[in-house]
Amino acid sequence: MSRPIALVTGASRGIGRAAASALADAGYDVVGWYRADASASATTGEAVMVRGGRFIARQVDVANEDEVRAGFRALRKTVDAPLRAVVCAAGITRDGLAGTMSSDAFDSVISTNLRGTFLVCREAIKAMRREGGSIVLVSSVAGVSGQAGQANYSASKGGVNAITQALAKETARLGIRVNAVAPGYTETDMYTSMDPSARAHVTELVPLGRPAAAAEVAAAIRFLAEDTSSYITGQILAVDGGLTA
Ligand SMILES: NC(=O)c1ccc[n+]([C@@H]2O[C@H](COP(=O)([O-])OP(=O)(O)OC[C@H]3O[C@@H](n4cnc5c(N)ncnc54)[C@H](OP(=O)(O)O)[C@@H]3O)[C@@H](O)[C@H]2O)c1
Repeated sequence: MSRPIALVTGASRGIGRAAASALADAGYDVVGWYRADASASATTGEAVMVRGGRFIARQVDVANEDEVRAGFRALRKTVDAPLRAVVCAAGITRDGLAGTMSSDAFDSVISTNLRGTFLVCREAIKAMRREGGSIVLVSSVAGVSGQAGQANYSASKGGVNAITQALAKETARLGIRVNAVAPGYTETDMYTSMDPSARAHVTELVPLGRPAAAAEVAAAIRFLAEDTSSYITGQILAVDGGLTA
């Protein structure tokens, strides 16, 4: 019996890498997409393979429609097992106050985080429409409550939450479930690139008193990807140490 396939975008680092590892633990082979960092992607590949999974890496900019389509075509050609899970973890920030934010900073974040999520979901639905599957989007607490300095990012993640609910309703009859995780502060490159004093300040606001490890977010992604969550769809699961409680 071949292992089912999970596609993870943003698999080269952070939450995507942790999700790839967690899904390998759950018995999946992983197709991992990254934007630029091939060497980080190779490290993810090692993590999947030590867990007994196959790993196929591909450079795909999720904001590029042609690349996303080509990525799905390649997936169909190279794997011989059903695509059962898709995790959209690719994401960027370009923070700044709205009064001085450039249109490029706004557009690039929307393009990667929201449009990119839509482009991947559209192809995922086509790929899963016969046998069903699970799509897990990576949103953020910033999509639940807009954050100062993150008008672009908050708008993108609010859109991801809305897409989660819309697609869940559209695809339930195809046997496809669509859910999101909404992480709070999580120890990845995205978090450590924040100013240290800002990091200390936001960590104080977290009831559990610390940022999440990427593996803690990945555990929730794995739960939503697997059949153990078979009656859950259209939900946005906060993984935030109580921040939005
Ligand atoms: N860390 C947090 O505190 C936090 C909190 C809430 C939500 N999130 C969300 O969690 C997700 C993962 O974030 P992270 O913290 O793991 O970030 P990260 O460590 O910066 O990793 C970002 C990942 O996204 C990939 N990526 C970026 N732009 C892409 C594009 N256009 N096409 C394809 N891949 C692209 C990167 O690929 P390369 O390695 O090739 O650059 C990398 O694999 C994001 O959606 C983020 O918004 C993070």
